Amino acid sequence: MDYIVPDKVSTVADFFDDLNLAIFLASAFFTVAIVGAMLYFAFRYRAKSSNDITPRIEGNHLLEIVWTVVPTVVVVVIAWVGIVLREKMFEVSPNVIPIYVTAWKWAWEFRYPTGKRTSGQNAELVVPVNKPVKLVIASKDVIHSLFIPAVRIKQDAVPGQLKYMTFTALKTGEYPIFCAEYCGTRHSYMMAKLRVVSEEEFNTWVNTIPEKTMPKRILGKKLYTDLGCNACHSVESGVNLVGPSFYDVFGAQRNFKDGTSLTADENYILESILYPNKRVVQGFNENVMPSYEGRLSQEELMALVSFIVELKTAPKEELVEVVFEKDEKIDLEKMTPLERGKYLYSAKGCNACHSVDGSQLVGPSFKGLHGARREFADGSSVVADDSYIKDSILNPNARIVKGFVAAMPSYQGQLNEDDLAGIVEFIKSLK
Ligand code: CUA
Repeated sequence: MDYIVPDKVSTVADFFDDLNLAIFLASAFFTVAIVGAMLYFAFRYRAKSSNDITPRIEGNHLLEIVWTVVPTVVVVVIAWVGIVLREKMFEVSPNVIPIYVTAWKWAWEFRYPTGKRTSGQNAELVVPVNKPVKLVIASKDVIHSLFIPAVRIKQDAVPGQLKYMTFTALKTGEYPIFCAEYCGTRHSYMMAKLRVVSEEEFNTWVNTIPEKTMPKRILGKKLYTDLGCNACHSVESGVNLVGPSFYDVFGAQRNFKDGTSLTADENYILESILYPNKRVVQGFNENVMPSYEGRLSQEELMALVSFIVELKTAPKEELVEVVFEKDEKIDLEKMTPLERGKYLYSAKGCNACHSVDGSQLVGPSFKGLHGARREFADGSSVVADDSYIKDSILNPNARIVKGFVAAMPSYQGQLNEDDLAGIVEFIKSLK
């Protein structure tokens, strides 16, 4: 059993695994017994000649009572054990440490009574070993679900409600945390880490709050990943994900959907963080970004603004860590066209808007795209061949497929012929 289940580090984990195993074994036993008996009878009592008469059996009270009572008892026992276990997950001990969990698209935040907090890409749920903790869980937007496999607990984060969950970790170490409720485009990026440490280490950690002393630009960079801004905004020139790149914002002309425009200054950046849907830049969607009003201190807001403003002028090495975090040395030339296309699909952020499994995100899925007929908003249509796909990457808004909005940036100048051919190969492979 230990080979096929994740690490288990909580007081309740063993009970859950045992119950699961018991249900599995019971199912396996009854499957074998029932299907086995069925096959045996089918063989044993098969018709041997055409004038074999099947005897008519009116019923058997003993048999019927047995096959009603036995499964009922099994199911009631499983339900009862399940209810007792569930109660265990909500038992709050008197000296419990409260931790406030907030979820939003697409990040987790863990906040401690000392004011310490971690969030976004750096989200860490740090807990002392052998001490009960109580997670109070909230959501800013849609339903998310906090899932910690190693602890065997899962609780939904529901907007407008506070949910809670308690556990006691038994073993130090690091374990993954997932969002287990599909919450939109970047759901799968909504991860965090559970770190179980000794009590002394926890006490030191929870009382160290370094942010306050950081220079603004550095604090802004930390917030950029902490708050999960990086899920939708790149810091590279021209790389637009769900939202515009931060690199080219300051000092640039912004054209809005309502036809107005302005030159982006500090005030505009601040407004966009606080009221992101007041003015939406052309080519992007409304109501995607949540408001950060009331969620950040004045200092944090200023830090983010200066991070964005100084992005171009900041020393390069400060940004490297953020931009290239998961980029090892990549040699595109050594790749086959298909590998290259697959790599570019995530490296260029295509994956933010185009699925490969047929599900519809901001843009059409790549699955089955090649060779399919595309119908456009203007009523015309075309079969998607190599040149249509290349054209859609370079001039994405020339023809908009019915049911979609003009949200995609042009990749003109960012991809060479081999890159384009690679992406075409990649799309072709998704039948
Ligand atoms: Cu949050 Cu899925």
